[in-house]
Amino acid sequence: MATPQQPKDHWSAEKYHSAASFVPKLTSTVLTYLAPQPQDKILDLGCGDGVLTAQIAAAVSSSDGGKVLGLDASPSFIDSAKRNHEGTTCSFHLQDCTRLEGCAELREGGWDKVFSNAALHWILRAPETRESVFRRVHEALEPGGKFVFEMGGAGNVAEVQAGFTAALVSKGGLTLREAREASPWFFPSTQWMSQMLGRVGFEVEVCELEYRPTECSPERADGSGGLGGWLRLMGAQFLEAVPEGRREEVLREVEGIVEGVVRREEDGSRWLGYVRLRAVARKK
Ligand code: BEZ
Repeated sequence: MATPQQPKDHWSAEKYHSAASFVPKLTSTVLTYLAPQPQDKILDLGCGDGVLTAQIAAAVSSSDGGKVLGLDASPSFIDSAKRNHEGTTCSFHLQDCTRLEGCAELREGGWDKVFSNAALHWILRAPETRESVFRRVHEALEPGGKFVFEMGGAGNVAEVQAGFTAALVSKGGLTLREAREASPWFFPSTQWMSQMLGRVGFEVEVCELEYRPTECSPERADGSGGLGGWLRLMGAQFLEAVPEGRREEVLREVEGIVEGVVRREEDGSRWLGYVRLRAVARKK
């Protein structure tokens, strides 16, 4: 029997830890907005390696009916999350979050809060699935329930996006249009987000952008971490747009392009221009 082709899993908890371990640490504002309570039933969309999901689960109590469920499309992340963080209030399921209609736990509803950190810019990449993601989240929530999230907003890592686009044209042989279409991310403005949340029936309580330059982790001897490690891991889908034999050259070109704008003169550290979009939306 033919096995359906599985989408490529770009993630590994270990590589993520080397290149982007700062992601779950820079979350104090969005966690304040979430304000998890002992009785809360919380869904975490795009939970990654489950570090933050477990932190949220520590605030809920199974004896009060609380639970947290993390969903992610990466088998590597979900394996790691289950191994390291599954417990009485915290569980994880493999789930493509662009197709939430296939998720039984979501369809059953009854959730007090839906949370997401640093994942929606991947999940909302394809224009045709965007609105259905927001509709499914809205349906899953109890009346009065909250959707609380943080993701990349308009202008996020713009230097990287421009660097990959330029390098895919100059070293990868793609047209400008093909290079732009290779981007795996969607970084909306607050206007776009407020309209979308309103259209599916949410009342928007907060929708804000924050410019938050973020230092790359130190480079390791094995080549992981650092700017190169970040580009290789987070930009894997850009690189896949060109034949394997050209990828290293493309990567070096991107590093060369962005180096001049991300490197700080005083100590050689490299800072990416992260822009966060945070929102709190209530189901009426
Ligand atoms: C972000 O969290 O903003 C982000 C993560 C990976 C790639 C691009 C942006």
